[in-house]
Amino acid sequence: MNDDTAADASASKARAFLTLHRNLPREGPGEPADIEWLGRQIELPENALICDIACGPGADIGPLLELAPGASVVAIDHNPQFLGQLADVWTGDPRVDVRLADMSEPGGRYDLIWCAGAAYFLGVSEALKGWRKSLNSGGVIAFSEPCFWNDPPSEIVREIWSGYPDMSGEAGIAERVRAAGFETIATRRLADSAWEAYYGPLLERMSELHEGADDTLRAVLRDAAAEIAAWNEYGDEFGYLLSVVRPSE
Ligand SMILES: C[S@@+](CC[C@H](N)C(=O)[O-])C[C@H]1O[C@@H](n2cnc3c(N)ncnc32)[C@H](O)[C@@H]1O
Repeated sequence: MNDDTAADASASKARAFLTLHRNLPREGPGEPADIEWLGRQIELPENALICDIACGPGADIGPLLELAPGASVVAIDHNPQFLGQLADVWTGDPRVDVRLADMSEPGGRYDLIWCAGAAYFLGVSEALKGWRKSLNSGGVIAFSEPCFWNDPPSEIVREIWSGYPDMSGEAGIAERVRAAGFETIATRRLADSAWEAYYGPLLERMSELHEGADDTLRAVLRDAAAEIAAWNEYGDEFGYLLSVVRPSE
């Protein structure tokens, strides 16, 4: 395959991915109960400034606004399709500011940085080190991260996650948090219902698109089906760990 053909193939795969993910309520496992739990672990000021980094289509914005009476949320993502979706819901609400930006540079100063299922794009330690300058004094970061529940993981589960070589067990995540100069305040394993909140609508969308899909979309549908099948079969061996952390000095 020459460079042009490879670039065309990758662009049509990206388009097929966006077709599959159009109008899904969320882009990874998570549910309001996670944010309610977070609210019980921390004390936020009344007018808390919150940043939802890599917000996707914005499913977490409503629950984040509930964390404090005068809370406001800056929602950042680099994907215009997802931001368009959440703008349909939040445009005109003065509590929500939607920004097309890179997650490595959230800017601003926040009492809470929330990142559901995306810190791994930067690496946990790199993400925390980079976001530290965007924390107000006393501020905290909460992020969810893929995690092996068995440490070491079984060979098959290691293979399923071979695309993410840094993935570890809970102790490994705590170690990466420490290495970034942070301490862990609390952790929570995301429940099955958090995965169902993502995979349920995704499965519905997959069945709508099945008929009439071209080869590229069919391949994307196959990958999604394989991911869901892996979770159905081995989901008791891995999941997402939500960690609440603050600078240690
Ligand atoms: C697994 S999804 C999670 C989305 C959302 N937090 C949720 O739970 O529905 C990861 C998100 O990270 C965003 N993303 C990936 N790399 C990014 C970057 N460099 N800057 C901003 N957003 C990024 C993607 O567009 C996507 O919305």
